[in-house]
Amino acid sequence: MALSENNPIPQHIAIIMDGNGRWAKKRGLPRTAGHAAGAEAFRKIANYCRTLGVKYLTVYAFSTENWKRSEEEVGGIMRLLGKYLQEALRDMEKNRVCFRFFGDLSRLSPQLQKLCSEAVDQSADYDVQVNFCLNYGGRDEIVRAARAFAQDVAEGKYSSSDLTEELLSTYLYSKDVPDPELIIRPSGELRTSNFLLWQSAYSEFVFMNVLWPDFGPKDLDEAIAEYQRRNRRFGGT
Ligand code: FPP
Repeated sequence: MALSENNPIPQHIAIIMDGNGRWAKKRGLPRTAGHAAGAEAFRKIANYCRTLGVKYLTVYAFSTENWKRSEEEVGGIMRLLGKYLQEALRDMEKNRVCFRFFGDLSRLSPQLQKLCSEAVDQSADYDVQVNFCLNYGGRDEIVRAARAFAQDVAEGKYSSSDLTEELLSTYLYSKDVPDPELIIRPSGELRTSNFLLWQSAYSEFVFMNVLWPDFGPKDLDEAIAEYQRRNRRFGGT
């Protein structure tokens, strides 16, 4: 499906990287091998987003619910993230990607937390931005925002009636990031799984049957082409 010249490319695309486990199972491989293939798919798609001129890419790498998985699988995902961040830090000047993390990083290992903060600090001035959702849940994000606002009210900075949608947005991990115009979920599942609950209010969702490790530039073109065919009305006519 060719991309339309007339409609804009979304400036912010978000992806639920789903289907790694099924991809591995189909091949008789351990689930961790599926996540490793998923990390490679992410690399390719992040590069392709840059080529297309997408400014923000947000990916769901680990949810607040993913801790329920086996220790071996959680450890495997964390190792992959660590390896990826080490390589990203090494290639920082060449790739010029700005890193942000959405989620409560305090539950990650001290080494991984250090890699995350180094990646954020060293990439602050770069323009294409990747937001990794790590130990992230949309409900958790909103609860934390509500708590932080309540604290500011208790300290006299605001009164409760000052709260607006704009003000609440500034308490979210995504403050300063425009809402995603397009959210893609591969792997055939038709749900949002606690991803960007606040930010997705007017996003276009595209669900696809391909498993994430098989997802490539052609699939992203197809999702963008589908987005470009939609008629976004934001509640108007
Ligand atoms: C969902 O597939 C995927 C995850 C919970 C983990 C995603 C992590 C990665 C792609 C690796 C992260 C690393 C980098 C560098 C981005 P699933 O396991 O739920 O698949 P299934 O539904 O087929 O079981």
